[in-house]
Amino acid sequence: MRTQVTIIGAGPAGLLLSHLLHLSGIESIVLETRSRADIEATIRAGVLEQGTMDILANAGVGARMKAEGALHHGVELAFGGRRHRIDLTELTGKAITVYPQHEVIKDLVAARLAAQGQLLFEVSGVQLQGVDTTTPSVSFVRAGEAARIDADFVIGCDGYHGVTRPAMPPQGREDFTRNYGFGWFGILVESAPSSDELIYARHDRGFALVSKRTPTVQRLYFQCDPADHVDNWSDDRIWAELHARLENNDGWRVNEGRIFQKGIIGMRSFVSTPMQAGRLFLAGDSAHIVPPTGAKGMNLAVSDVNVLAQGLEQFYRQGRDDRLQGYTDAALKRIWRAEYFSWWMTSLLHTFADATPFQREMQRAELECVVSSRAMATALAENYVGAF
Ligand code: FAD
Ligand code: PHB
Repeated sequence: MRTQVTIIGAGPAGLLLSHLLHLSGIESIVLETRSRADIEATIRAGVLEQGTMDILANAGVGARMKAEGALHHGVELAFGGRRHRIDLTELTGKAITVYPQHEVIKDLVAARLAAQGQLLFEVSGVQLQGVDTTTPSVSFVRAGEAARIDADFVIGCDGYHGVTRPAMPPQGREDFTRNYGFGWFGILVESAPSSDELIYARHDRGFALVSKRTPTVQRLYFQCDPADHVDNWSDDRIWAELHARLENNDGWRVNEGRIFQKGIIGMRSFVSTPMQAGRLFLAGDSAHIVPPTGAKGMNLAVSDVNVLAQGLEQFYRQGRDDRLQGYTDAALKRIWRAEYFSWWMTSLLHTFADATPFQREMQRAELECVVSSRAMATALAENYVGAF
């Protein structure tokens, strides 16, 4: 097989890139290890920045997002038994939308298939060859048959555990990592939302987050040991923990309901540079990870491929590659800003096992500053909505 651009991974980065390239008349093939049903059912992110919404809408895949997504004009910070609203729209003129990542995936898969796009699901043994040449190829196995795609470019959109980052030449690579030593326990709950807006809560027992998915499904998280196991957490224990962490003086309580999904994710910050070696490029989680506290991961994946698509368009339309050569620098600007914000939100709101009493007081004082200083609240709001 031959195509112009081979894309590894059908997450938000890979699918959107394939669609943006199609809109520019560039042909691609997407390889994905999992099944379509699997990628369309994996529960992950929920918060879309305005810029992400605009990119999806301009690509013609925003109709359902606009109709079914919930526009949020503020978020709440809870600590010391009180809730404080940060008015995102008043402070920045912008808002965010809560629309589940797997719905974005469904919209993108539908758009690719409607345009006869080539999505190859359930492939295995993906390997890259000739990435230091102008004719890279990818070999893989599909339905028991060995296959190979030759292309002008290979784009790694295969997430943190994929095969493309390890295929980058080691010389000149620099990786930046921070492990936080805690994770998030996430649940999906059948019940009406407890709050119109997201609540980020800091408590001595640990962080908790109240979010939602639909008018009848809540998404709740609480800080946990990343090595813990969901089987250690009965529904009763989960509710007791959430009530304790979300306790407050105004009588508000989180709504209980049937818990129909439980999972634990680790928290890390990670950036791998450069994001290009010859004809191989990385985008999204394959190149960088943020802890979910800033709600930036999917937004970064979308902004990476938006920049990359413009570079590829310039290459094919004008025969120039300066945009492609500038991809790492252009993408990293935004990535480091989001890394900073996600680290800051994580540091502000979680409990750290090794924190000294002084550090705990600094955290409390900083939270007080954020909710009482318009300047600090504006900085949070600008970063949260992606106004940078
Ligand atoms: P992925 O979504 O990881 O997609 C990679 C794809 O590549 C996968 O489908 C995988 O199966 C496939 N793949 C892997 N290896 C191979 C291979 N060898 N060959 C072929 N295919 C392969 N972000 C936000 O912006 N807002 C949020 O609110 C938010 N909340 C989150 C909550 C949770 C619990 C988690 C886990 C993440 C959250 N994120 C959030 C992060 C967001 O989900 C990710 O940043 C986003 O999925 C990255 O997209 P991607 O396309 O780069 O990678
Ligand atoms: C979510 O709804 O899954 C969500 C919301 C905000 C975050 C992270 C996850 O910061």
